[in-house]
Amino acid sequence: MHVAILGRQPALGMAELEQLYGASGVQWFSDNSACIDHPGFDFERLAGSQKAGRVVAELRGDWRQTSTVLVNAYVDAWQNHKGKITLGISAYGFHVSPRDVQKAGIVLKAKLKKHGVSLRLIPNNDPALSTATSHHNKLGLSDNHIEILIVRSANGKVLIAESVGSQNITALARRDQGRPKRDAFVGMLPPKLARMMVNLSGVTPPGRLLDPFCGTGVLLQEAALVGFDVYGTDLSPKMIEFSQKNLEWLSETHHTVSDITLDQGDAMTHIWEGTISAVIAETYLGQPFSAPPSPSKLVQVRDNCDHIISTFLKNLAPQIPAGTPVCLAIPAWRDSLGHFTHLPLTGRLTSLGFSQQTLEHVRKEELIYYREDQVVARQLLVLKKG
Ligand SMILES: C[S@@+](CC[C@H](N)C(=O)[O-])C[C@H]1O[C@@H](n2cnc3c(N)ncnc32)[C@H](O)[C@@H]1O
Repeated sequence: MHVAILGRQPALGMAELEQLYGASGVQWFSDNSACIDHPGFDFERLAGSQKAGRVVAELRGDWRQTSTVLVNAYVDAWQNHKGKITLGISAYGFHVSPRDVQKAGIVLKAKLKKHGVSLRLIPNNDPALSTATSHHNKLGLSDNHIEILIVRSANGKVLIAESVGSQNITALARRDQGRPKRDAFVGMLPPKLARMMVNLSGVTPPGRLLDPFCGTGVLLQEAALVGFDVYGTDLSPKMIEFSQKNLEWLSETHHTVSDITLDQGDAMTHIWEGTISAVIAETYLGQPFSAPPSPSKLVQVRDNCDHIISTFLKNLAPQIPAGTPVCLAIPAWRDSLGHFTHLPLTGRLTSLGFSQQTLEHVRKEELIYYREDQVVARQLLVLKKG
């Protein structure tokens, strides 16, 4: 069994896990962690989890009890260890100070020293090491670079896990900022969200994913990295050129071997050709806003987006087989009180030819990606052709 430490929006990370490993393969452990019991668990593929670890012990107790068990167990396990150990300890869900966590490491280090085993302890600025610290120290990636994740649920259950890695923020930043073509006006879909959307579709390679609003190709990039062939269309010929350049860059730098099809086309009328295993798209989101728009402006923008996206869905429905997964990021506007205005089409998906997938562990209202300072949020629709 593995435990995953979920990202900034835990519901999104959980939805991703449920789509990849099935509702019975995953369960909530605490507000920001989940257990995964599935032989195919692959942390590298995920975007909604910050870290994951293989569970090595389950117990109950507070930090004092847990840290005593921890120190004794690892003195036993490592007293004959060859080579220097780099160790990080991360505690989640305990009422402890970083110093308390650090202290467990210092005691362990002193006891191991008596056995001639040398240990470099990564300092804790917080009870849990940041993803950046774990990633930069390569924790979880070899026998000598270890992070112990200690996770406590609200009812006092504790999991001790050995990390299998943390989110590769260097690679994510490179895919975002290193690609040759970017366009601030079209928008900047973070690769992390794009990867989550590929995973939310629930399909696994081989297959061919279509993005009918492909823009600069962020979703196509993530789909290609997972191993899919990719098919992108966009109204703008410039965006098709940008996607082409970005996918060429990806195959040169990341050695992807996907078959690529790119065509200019209006998603409201286009006829797509060939096999389509799933459709993923960040649709047209309307104009960007830095402050909430006036009510009349909001209605105007909302109705325009609603028209484009519902006409696209009506066009798409007869072109794909029943059951084909469709994962869309559509706009929802946040007011100053944090309330959302949604597209009217979300209330008539059935008449457009689609059914919304029900997830067991996450309510569909929670599938919305935003930052506190954003007016235009991205609502994630996880659909199937009806
Ligand atoms: C929010 S952007 C998507 C950005 C994209 N995810 C990326 O990686 O760059 C929406 C895209 O939809 C395109 N678009 C707008 N209306 C369209 C339509 N009717 N048919 C197809 N594409 C359209 C725009 O040109 C733009 O590239």
